[in-house]
Amino acid sequence: MVVRIYENYETLSEQAAQLLVEQVKSNPFSNIVLAAGDSPRLTYQLFVRKLLEQHIDYRNCHFIGLDEWLDVAPENTGSCHYFLKTNIIEPLSVPATHFHLFNALTSNQDEECERMDSVVRELNGIDAMVVGIGMNGHIGFNEPGVPFDLYAHVVDLDENTQAVGQKYFNAPTTLRSGISLGMKHLMESKKVFALASGKKKSTIIARLLKEEINNRVPASILRQHKNSWLLLDEDAASDISQPSTK
Ligand code: F6R
Repeated sequence: MVVRIYENYETLSEQAAQLLVEQVKSNPFSNIVLAAGDSPRLTYQLFVRKLLEQHIDYRNCHFIGLDEWLDVAPENTGSCHYFLKTNIIEPLSVPATHFHLFNALTSNQDEECERMDSVVRELNGIDAMVVGIGMNGHIGFNEPGVPFDLYAHVVDLDENTQAVGQKYFNAPTTLRSGISLGMKHLMESKKVFALASGKKKSTIIARLLKEEINNRVPASILRQHKNSWLLLDEDAASDISQPSTK
């Protein structure tokens, strides 16, 4: 795993956006999985700006949503759907054939998981993933205790995720369960960019780097990935004495 530490959220986002641009330039057919949330928000805005300003051809890229709050409608401004629609899909005018998001309102959650698994399979796998790190060390909605050998699955969200998730919503919202690509997708992705910023992430980032790799801190498995990048700002890195580059 490569660990990079940048001065602040802005420089972290600038560099992450540049890495994504390079991904698209080097493989204009990239299948890219995208998390929602605060960590990648500015990265996506800068990525979109760079693609458009530099006239980079992304028409053959596919964009895949990492996860979704179950039973939250796509038009709800706190949904991952709404976030990806407003930050990536609409500004890039990505056609429906080239973006793939979980349906949070599905009446058959198992079928929905199978559908997203088959989307990934039929695209011949994931070239790059952009993920955040939860306060509890989750990636997507792969909560502490998750088996590492799962593809898409439905998750009972832990209390921390239910509470922290309120920040995305205009009004208190019931967030009992989620639907998410699995850690097996993460490990099979050719590349992973994991972003974390702010002092509030410093404890979990230190645990991710220092504890033995285990599913109590799901993101610790990034250290086993063949091409993972942990992109931090100085605040998120402030509890690490010696950054690991394993
Ligand atoms: C959201 C997602 C979550 C977030 C994580 C960090 O799609 O997959 O795992 O990445 O909870 O959230 P932020 O970036 O808001 O701190």
